[in-house]
Amino acid sequence: MSVAFSVQDLRFKYPSAKEDTLKGISFEVKEGEIFGLLGPSGAGKSTTQKILIKLLEDYKGSVKYFGKDLKDLGKSYYEEIGVGFEVPVHFSKLTALENLKFYSGFYKSKADIRELMERVGLWEYRDKKVGEFSKGMKVRLNFVRALLNKPRVLFLDEVTNGLDPKNARIIKDMIAEYRKDGGTVFLSTHLMNDVEQLCDRIAFCVNGSLVEVSTPRELKLKYGKREVKVEYNENGNLSTAVFSLDGIGENEEFVNLLKSKQIETIHSGETSMEEIFIIVTGVELNERTEAV
Ligand SMILES: Nc1ncnc2c1ncn2[C@@H]1O[C@H](COP(=O)(O)OP(=O)(O)OP(=O)(O)O)[C@@H](O)[C@H]1O
Ligand SMILES: [Mg+2]
Repeated sequence: MSVAFSVQDLRFKYPSAKEDTLKGISFEVKEGEIFGLLGPSGAGKSTTQKILIKLLEDYKGSVKYFGKDLKDLGKSYYEEIGVGFEVPVHFSKLTALENLKFYSGFYKSKADIRELMERVGLWEYRDKKVGEFSKGMKVRLNFVRALLNKPRVLFLDEVTNGLDPKNARIIKDMIAEYRKDGGTVFLSTHLMNDVEQLCDRIAFCVNGSLVEVSTPRELKLKYGKREVKVEYNENGNLSTAVFSLDGIGENEEFVNLLKSKQIETIHSGETSMEEIFIIVTGVELNERTEAV
């Protein structure tokens, strides 16, 4: 499998900032994977995405796209990537369809706008001015915009932010399908659900540094508690027992409990990605890193 992005010791400082926002980060995004950059507010996720899409140029270190230095890539790079910006940018006086046709006009390769709009439930609102759209409708339109040029790599920054669960699910399904068809995704988010359900690999970003890059499964094995929690009914009262997963088949107490009691729930004591994030980084995801 080829490497879509190879990032080495990436450093970046905003002109107005006192210190580096990115403090030397290195990672690879493989072709065909969904790579998640996860971190609390202010960690540097959007800054990283902006560098990878050539919006911020004065960085130190090296960024390679399929082996070529990003700095040497010309306009053709924009034919290959699709970008979902953190804050949707649309022309509010134009209709949704007019917006998409306008952006589609920049590209040689063109996706089927109607098909995409139907999928996200916006086709029936195609002639409505975007200024009259709800937040969630703008977010969905923003996602469609990212797919207009049938990109080889998709950048998504907080892609489901502001969506209700049904619409978030539709977008996540579309991202998974895009990957299945061979696409590569760079997803930055602070939302655990997005990461757990979608990402093949995750990088934890805190205060401009990456602290761990791994698969969700490896992280769960490494930091998860290997336990099973059983809730059962005892004389009308709910009781709880916790067992180690190791050797559970031979654990008589566990087996007897299953045989003799009315079981209400059984859960493996999986540590959530949110708990893992806190263990690995010592930072709550909803904290700003400066506060630490
Ligand atoms: N244009 C700018 N000029 C100066 N500093 C900036 C600029 N944009 C971002 N920053 C700072 O850089 C740091 C990283 O910001 P960034 O937007 O990359 O964070 P993030 O991880 O995407 O956070 P969030 O989850 O809130 O979107 C923050 O401290 C932020 O204040
Ligand atoms: Mg951001």
